Amino acid sequence: MADPGNRSGDGRVPIEPQTIDAPLTRHAVFLVLTVAPGSDPLDAVRSVLSDVDGLVKTVGFRDLGASFTCTVGIGAAIWPGLTGLPLPRELHEFTTITGARHTAPSTPGDLLFHIRSDRQDLCYEFERLLLEALGDAVAVADETIGFRYLDTRDLLGFVDGTANPVGHHLPESTLVGEEDPAAAGGSYVVVQKYLHPLASWHALTTEQQEAIIGRRKADNVELDDAESGQKAHKTLATIVDDAGVEHDILRDNMPFGSPGTATFGTYFIGYSRELWVVERMLERMFIGDPPGLHDRLLDFSEAVTGSVFFAPSAEALANLGSPAPTGTGTPAPVDETGPAGAGTGSLGLGLGGLRGTRTTPQQSGDER
Ligand code: HEM
Repeated sequence: MADPGNRSGDGRVPIEPQTIDAPLTRHAVFLVLTVAPGSDPLDAVRSVLSDVDGLVKTVGFRDLGASFTCTVGIGAAIWPGLTGLPLPRELHEFTTITGARHTAPSTPGDLLFHIRSDRQDLCYEFERLLLEALGDAVAVADETIGFRYLDTRDLLGFVDGTANPVGHHLPESTLVGEEDPAAAGGSYVVVQKYLHPLASWHALTTEQQEAIIGRRKADNVELDDAESGQKAHKTLATIVDDAGVEHDILRDNMPFGSPGTATFGTYFIGYSRELWVVERMLERMFIGDPPGLHDRLLDFSEAVTGSVFFAPSAEALANLGSPAPTGTGTPAPVDETGPAGAGTGSLGLGLGGLRGTRTTPQQSGDER
């Protein structure tokens, strides 16, 4: 977690990458990429990722008041070859969940870039430079451009994000700790893109909508949980373990779409210290609790993508370009001045001098 003083608004430095609790912004881009097979694309990706801090400075410094930041997530399939690090304990690909009425599909994704700013042009600029640097090592699986709608509402008209953890609960809920030392400071990230058939949602009464969500629409006040039978979304998404402990996640959902194309959506993004918590939420939503009584929100929200990533700490990300210490890999040379490409650790955008000293050696990772 970044030092809270190290935020935009103090007019001094851009927000450090991997700051998952970065301020809520007016704009975001959710970019999911697949990486081409073979070791050369992985080398190119490793080089770019280890210098994301430089690219964040390059773009973020142009308007320090615009809360620009980026969080990178890495998928299970490329994790070993890309990082040379042990797989974070719970990391695996998104598991399709098939309920009686609705399915949460698993869709391709090796890398996630969660790009946030109060200025859409800064998101655009970062994405442009990023994709230029990655070149044909990657293909775009999904690009979703999100925007804040009114007072942080989803396109169904409800305020979204209220119950997020705050204070010390936030890092406790989102950052891996001593339970997995190699992954400490990182976070599991689950993304899903949902499409809303708005006309049928609008055909419901406000009271029906409120019963589905579990909050009042106008003033956002929470409704009581149902004693039995159909549960509201907010109840199904509340996870309490056998010891009575509630497990929270951090959501930074954003609306996307446009009336002109009749596309109305919510991009769900959840950060969690424990992947099982998000998976339990999804099971309760799609299969139901009790099974059969699924989340009625899904009758008006179709999941069209689903991927899981792990967002390593900023330090672990920056160290990806470092030489290998052990194992079978040959130490990867770290060229502080060279152009973009395998093993150079530079984006080739004149950012080499911005990078700090690598301190944690990594395996070069030349296989997937
Ligand atoms: C179409 C997609 C979704 C929409 C429009 C949506 C909307 C909302 C809204 C309006 C609330 C109530 C206010 C708040 O606390 O934020 C809420 C609560 C919540 N949602 Fe969602 N949500 C969506 C999908 C999901 C998914 C996929 C998950 C988890 C896998 C999830 C997890 C939660 C959690 C944990 C809460 C807070 C529950 C509590 O009160 O403790 N949501 N959501």
